Amino acid sequence: TPTALMAISAAYLLGAVPFGLVIARLWGVGDIRTQGSGNIGATNVLRTAGKIPGLLTLVLDIGKGAMATAAGIAMFGWQSPITAAMALLSFMGHLYPVYLGFKGGKGVATGLGVFLMLTPVVGLLAVGSWVVGALLFRISSLAALIAFAMMPLYQYLYGTPAALVVAAIVVPMVFWKHRQNIQRILQGTEPRIGKKG
Ligand code: G3P
Repeated sequence: TPTALMAISAAYLLGAVPFGLVIARLWGVGDIRTQGSGNIGATNVLRTAGKIPGLLTLVLDIGKGAMATAAGIAMFGWQSPITAAMALLSFMGHLYPVYLGFKGGKGVATGLGVFLMLTPVVGLLAVGSWVVGALLFRISSLAALIAFAMMPLYQYLYGTPAALVVAAIVVPMVFWKHRQNIQRILQGTEPRIGKKG
């Protein structure tokens, strides 16, 4: 239906808003894509601009995934494939934003926002896994990879079939977007949280 198509497009356009890029620029650090890891996510904003802008980016990137998903739930219901598509497209928007020539972020915060809304128990488990991973290893990307690696199991145990399908697409994409991080982790050169990249 036209309403569904419009809602899915809006979810993509919201997900594509590069809050990290905007906030880093407002904070006077210039184009974040040329600094640190070059990523537009909260980790790199923290690394290059500081704690407050990093936190703002985290909240807004989680928020856009959560908002797009919440809108889907309100309009089409919890288990609707249209809601799943809106959740997925907001995530894809962050990864492949039309505003930035389709070169976007890695989807950790936006993905968490999606799952926090779609399946709150799983979302919280994933956030908890990120925190445990971050405390253990002090590496943001590794914490994210641990959290998203656990996601299919969490969805299987506590989620819904629709969210499991979303996870089956989101998780490989998060890993794909972290391929350079994975290389650096294996080489032992991935920067730790709190250190400059
Ligand atoms: O949110 C992305 C994070 O997992 C890694 O970011 O800047 O260290 O590549 P970064």
